[in-house]
Amino acid sequence: MPDSLPARVAAALGRIRNPRLDNDVLSAGMVRDLTVTEDGKVSFTFLLSREDPATLVREVRAAVRAVDGVKPAELRISVTDPGGPAKSSHGPPGPPPDGSGPAAVEPLVLGQIIAISSGKGGVGKSSVSVNLAVALASQGYRVGLMDGDVYGPNIPRMFGVFEKPPVTQGRIQPLTAWGVRLMSLGFLVERDAAAIWRGPIIMKIVNQFLRDVDWGPLDYFLVDLPPGTGDAQLSLVQSCQVRCAVIVTTPQEMAVGDALRGAKMFEKVGVPVIGIVENMSAWVDPATGQRLELFGAGGGQRLADELKVPLLGTVPLQPGMANLADQGKPIVAAEPESPAARSLVAIAARLLKEVGTRTVQLPILNN
Ligand SMILES: Nc1ncnc2c1ncn2[C@@H]1O[C@H](COP(=O)(O)OP(=O)(O)O)[C@@H](O)[C@H]1O
Ligand SMILES: [Mg+2]
Repeated sequence: MPDSLPARVAAALGRIRNPRLDNDVLSAGMVRDLTVTEDGKVSFTFLLSREDPATLVREVRAAVRAVDGVKPAELRISVTDPGGPAKSSHGPPGPPPDGSGPAAVEPLVLGQIIAISSGKGGVGKSSVSVNLAVALASQGYRVGLMDGDVYGPNIPRMFGVFEKPPVTQGRIQPLTAWGVRLMSLGFLVERDAAAIWRGPIIMKIVNQFLRDVDWGPLDYFLVDLPPGTGDAQLSLVQSCQVRCAVIVTTPQEMAVGDALRGAKMFEKVGVPVIGIVENMSAWVDPATGQRLELFGAGGGQRLADELKVPLLGTVPLQPGMANLADQGKPIVAAEPESPAARSLVAIAARLLKEVGTRTVQLPILNN
């Protein structure tokens, strides 16, 4: 089978060497947010430091243009200096003027924007969001996590941060915990007030809020959505510019039904569901090997089959996980050897694979 277009683009990038790093530009991590659409549009951010030969940009551009299936006119490369100022359009010595520099207004690039969703509450959506975020951050990715659950903003507590985010030059600074930049609607609204809000109002507030937060460049931006499938969720999906969604369910049939409705909501706005996470799966007693299926079995796989998407993994019930969460300790960091943590780390890896193969547009929020 011939390689897909994204694979051919990646291969072309993998053949360009950066002599300074004695590595190819892809392996060296110089290419970020690579996006390849089926119809041949390619965009990415190229991290070029001052020590690198400026000719690399030209080489990279030529290599990608030459890939069969790429539309040269639709190739967008924005060059930034990883060590320098965020803006690359000025400041000495700057990247080469090769006509591909960032637009006049510096876009806020939020990387791949992934919603974590569930039909109903209490299935472990926030736990999955937090642990996937920490797992990705521990691999060196720049990860942002938006607690979009206006009705039960628990993420700050799950990270053990309680302070108000500081404001610098009119922009809200995300708090960082376990390597994850995080922000919560809980910082913004009173818990009880949110319950009576309608979608359009939430959308307005979230839109504004997102623009006021100084996320910096990110590779992955996870959004923990509120449970349910109504207007509020839909608004958040749109205002966060969500590009793909992961649905969390328990093995139970009832949760699966709710999750199906959730998937329909994403379909409506053209956001692909890229996989299912089954949480609270069977617990296996390490002493006796006995399986305890507190919430039944097989729901995640059934849902995945129904939606024709992969089951990214199952997370077993883990005694003590709730306690750790209450202490602000994500289990993948606090007990990395536990079965739940191992599953979550594996799910993070699988998620990257699924996201990487998607043909999604580079999401950009303009300030
Ligand atoms: N795999 C698991 N094993 C044990 N407890 C879990 C597991 N996943 C989540 N929990 C606990 O279940 C409760 C609900 O999880 P939470 O992530 O807050 O759900 P949601 O965000 O869907 O409402 C929390 O107390 C959490 O610590
Ligand atoms: Mg939650």
